[in-house]
Parts: sequence; C-alpha cells; structure tokens
Amino acid sequence: MSELQSNAALPLVEHRATPAQEFLLDVIEGFSQPQKTLPCKYFYDERGSKLFAAICETEEYYITRTELAILAQALPEIARRVGPACDIVEFGSGAGIKIRLLLEGLHQPRCYIPLDISSEILEQSAAELAGQFPGVQVVPVVGDYHKPIILPEEFRQGSHHRKLVFFPGSTISNFTPEEALGFLSRIRDILNPGDGFLIGVDCVKPATILNAAYNDAAGVTAAFNLNLLERIASTFHTNLRPQHFFHHAFFNAEQSRIEMHLVSRRDQVVEIEGHRFGFRQGETIHTENSYKYSLEDFNRLALATGFTTDQVWQDPERLFSLHYLTAC
Ligand code: TRP
Repeated sequence: MSELQSNAALPLVEHRATPAQEFLLDVIEGFSQPQKTLPCKYFYDERGSKLFAAICETEEYYITRTELAILAQALPEIARRVGPACDIVEFGSGAGIKIRLLLEGLHQPRCYIPLDISSEILEQSAAELAGQFPGVQVVPVVGDYHKPIILPEEFRQGSHHRKLVFFPGSTISNFTPEEALGFLSRIRDILNPGDGFLIGVDCVKPATILNAAYNDAAGVTAAFNLNLLERIASTFHTNLRPQHFFHHAFFNAEQSRIEMHLVSRRDQVVEIEGHRFGFRQGETIHTENSYKYSLEDFNRLALATGFTTDQVWQDPERLFSLHYLTAC
C-alpha cells in the first residue's frame, strides 16, 4: 500500500477561523440580510471603547451619571439586603467606577468575580481592583454571557455564601426582550434562593430626551457608530468609505427602543474582499437597539424568570431605575 492510501491514522487538524476571518463572515452575513445589520460586539475595539467612555461623559447621555447617583444613594439599603461576606459577580465589567462604589459600600465583601469577553481589559482591571481592595479575593472569568454561564467550582450553586450579581449601565437594553428573558434565566440558574441581582434599567421617557441622548451635539455617538465602518475599512481590502454613510438614531415608540443605524448617502456598491453589496441612497445598516422599560414591564420580566422585585430606586426625574431582585 502506498503512503498516500494509508492515511487512516492521520492526526485531525482542527480548523479555527482567525478573528479577522470571523469578522468577515459576520460582515458578509449582516450585509446579506434584507435589513442590513452588523453585530454590536464589533463596536468595542480600542477606539470604540474610548468613544464609548466619551459617550458616557456627554451632557445629553444621562444614563451613567444618573445611575451613579442612584447607586450612591441606595448603597446603605443595598448593603443591608446583601449582608456581610458576599460574592459579587459582574457581567461586562468595563471601566469599574460603579464596582468600586459597591466594594466600598457593602459589608466586607468576600469575592469579586468580573466576567468579560475581553481578557486584556479583564486582567488589567482585576489587578487594579485586587491592589485597591486587599481584603477582597478577585477572580476574573473570561466568558461570553450570551452563552450558558459557568462559574468556577467554589462559586457554583450550593456555595453557602450569598451571591450578588451586578449588571449596571442598562446593558440589558441591548438585548431584544426575548434575549433578555434568556439572559435573566441564565443568571437565575447560577444563583441560590435568596441571592441578589442588582440591575440598572433605563426607563421609557419622552422621545426628545431619548433622541438627544443618542444624538449628542458633539457627534461622539455618531463617531462611535461610524467606527464600525472604520474598522471594516482598516481590516479588509474594500472600497467602503465611512464618509459615504451617516449616523441616525431615533426612538421607535411602538417597539420601545432606540434604534441606531448607518445610512447610505448615495446609491453605491460596496466591495469587501471580493464580495459585493448594493446600497440604495437612504438604505440603512441597523447596528444596535436600546430597549426602554416601564417599571411594570421589567417587573414582569423578573417574575417570569424566577425573581421577585425587592426594591426599585429611581432618580427624582424617573429617568433611570435600579432594581434589587431576589432569586426565588
Ligand atoms: N447599554 C447602554 C445603552 O443602551 C450603553 C450603550 C450600548 C450605548 N451601546 C450604545 C450608548 C450605543 C450609546 C450608543 O444606552
């Protein structure tokens, strides 16, 4: 038998797509839909993360400062509910101002478990926090919370330490209501009855306030949205030019959500690595949603996923809400 024929025992080589190949596949898939779209995870490269931090500082974007003020005020009550020596799990931990408030305000928290998809940001912020809070054990976990959540052994269900899941920033808004239901159920699955879930949720409000928040006058949100196209243009062989599109965000009252789009300024054919996509003038790429909840609607979501609402705090203008849920 020749060598060529006796290949039964050849080792299997697993083919894994590189990040750029995966990005390309996602772009092709998104641009092939009747309503073109792009996955929002691609917002957060280095420039995108900086632009996002800058959005949080704009005058029009009320969410960050309002949530911080509510959290600072509610801290003693949160600490009383949580009790001493809890383990905090945070999803999509980011810059970490809010977690510092919580670690300072709770009664001797035992552990802090930040879970994030980006290992670089995670390592850096975990090291910083461990230095700043020597009494807290910091256990970073790299993971995607769109999938089933697996915590390290000692934090699984059955641990007799009270857990507190922290999910600020109204990141829940960027899920569709069905996805939000799935996410809350997955959170419930990692908790024991009596454990807590502290979640920030943006509220329904007049469209003028919402439209302003996602269309800041300085154009930071526009730059953030257009950065998706910058990223495509700098990663691939393409004739795509970000300046041939503009940012458009508006409140869709029927669906109770802000929609972010990139609008084509002209009829054009965009070619990316040999794949061609036609755009009509005015045609859009739908890049993100931010759902706005009434307190009742969010309460219903919590109940449907195995939580009771213990307490809800709002700012005096009722722009934003912070919910303390307990696992049933
Ligand atoms: N979750 C926040 C929100 O929906 C933050 C956010 C996510 C955001 N993507 C965004 C803010 C895009 C502005 C633009 O508001």
